[in-house]
Order: sequence, then C-alpha cells, then structure tokens
Amino acid sequence: MTNTPQNAPGQNWDVSGYAEHAHFVPKQGIDVLKQLAPQPGERILDLGCGDGTLTAQLVQRGADVLGIDASEDMVNAARLRGVTARVVDGHQLPFDHEFDAVFSNAALHWMLDPQAVLAGVKRALKPGGRFVAEFGGHGNVAAICTALIASLQFRGISSRGRHPWYFPTTQEYSHLLQTVGFRVESIELIPRPTPLPTGMAGWLETFASPFLHGLDEDLKVAVVDNTMSLLAHSLSDGQGNWTADYVRLRVSARA
Ligand code: BEZ
Repeated sequence: MTNTPQNAPGQNWDVSGYAEHAHFVPKQGIDVLKQLAPQPGERILDLGCGDGTLTAQLVQRGADVLGIDASEDMVNAARLRGVTARVVDGHQLPFDHEFDAVFSNAALHWMLDPQAVLAGVKRALKPGGRFVAEFGGHGNVAAICTALIASLQFRGISSRGRHPWYFPTTQEYSHLLQTVGFRVESIELIPRPTPLPTGMAGWLETFASPFLHGLDEDLKVAVVDNTMSLLAHSLSDGQGNWTADYVRLRVSARA
C-alpha cells in the first residue's frame, strides 16, 4: 500500500514518522482497492505493502494475500497487523505464475527500473491475472521537485542522481506494459491536490531525503528553507496549510 525505498540513496523509512506525516497515503488507496475488487479466496500479491494498512483490508475481504516491501521495518510493521509479509525487492520478484492479482498503491514510483518490475509482475501472475496499481504519474509533485532542484542549484549543488522517483506518462507506461506482454484495460492520470497534515516540512522530512543525501546539516537546513519559501507561493494558503501537487497514474492490465 505504500512507498518502498528500492533505489533511493538516502531514503530511510521510519514507521512512526510515516504514520505521522503520511497517514493519508493508504486512505487515498481506497479507490484503487475498489478497482481491484478482491474476491474471497483469491491469491493476491501487494507489491510495496509498506506498513500493511491496505494489505490488511485485502485480507478482511477474504483474499489470501502476501505483502512484500523492500523495507524490513515496514514489513515488521505489516506483520504486527497480522499480515503475511516478506522483504522483497520489487525489481527481483521471485514468483512464478501463482497470483490471481498483483496490487500496488503508492509504491511503484520508487522503483527506477520499471521494465524489470513489470516483467516480474507478469511472471508472478497466472495467465489472465490482473495488475491493478496506482502511483505517482507524470507531473506528480512537479512544483516540489522543481523547488528542490532550484534550491540545490542555488548553492552550486547538482541534482543529478538525486531525483529518486519515476513518474511516467500514460503513453510511456502503456507501452512498457505491452512490451512485457500485458493487455492494458484502463490507464489514466488523476490530479489529486493533497492537504498535508504536518505541512511541507513534514512531507520533505519523510520523502525528500534523497535530494539532501550527503550534505552537511547546515546545508540541508538551508536547502529545505529555500525550498519551502519557493513553494509557499503555490502550495501554501499563507495560514500554515500546505497542499502537495500529487498526480496519480491508475492502471488496470491483464497478463
Ligand atoms: C507519492 O505518493 O506520490 C509520493 C510520495 C513520496 C514522494 C513522491 C511521491
């Protein structure tokens, strides 16, 4: 149901910080879960299950679910909810035609080799099995990324290799799905401005550390301050309420 640190140097997952700053993420996964329409007894893989909030809902609907995540701390948190979960890198799925469906919410944008991921998803599914996912699409957190990159450049720091996310267009992702043998049933970009419960500072602390990786503490503080002041014009209402410029890509495809 959530984000996975597959390929992001500097990204650490802190279960309690995630719960504090990003508890809206699984709530926003309800629509894609409805689109999956899990049936009792179905074998389902939750790819990037995070702390297992949505995985547990799949279990409640009677599915036989395995949650996987690259973060050991997240997998432990999922197990505490009673979910069966394993530490697995989404780029190296070890499953062979055994799932009726693969589900993923807010995780695939962390996996920077989508072809490897999709090839593994296809292999994991039984013939005709479904892949239903939602993650960051083209234009997701565009203002936030631009402000971070500009703030780094302002201090003479290149952002090369620091941008940790994959946000494809629908055309790009459809093509990739077809390349690995999927039939795309639906794919769309959904703009979703998202109020941030602990403001932009909480969001940057939780998600943006790859941009700041390896910098001295003073420099980190300066880059974050500059980022916040650039973003205040577009993402804050001036009363301390912040909104993130999320854009989701939601997809449903058949193996
Ligand atoms: C997202 O859920 O879209 C997201 C989360 C963290 C970083 C970037 C995007």
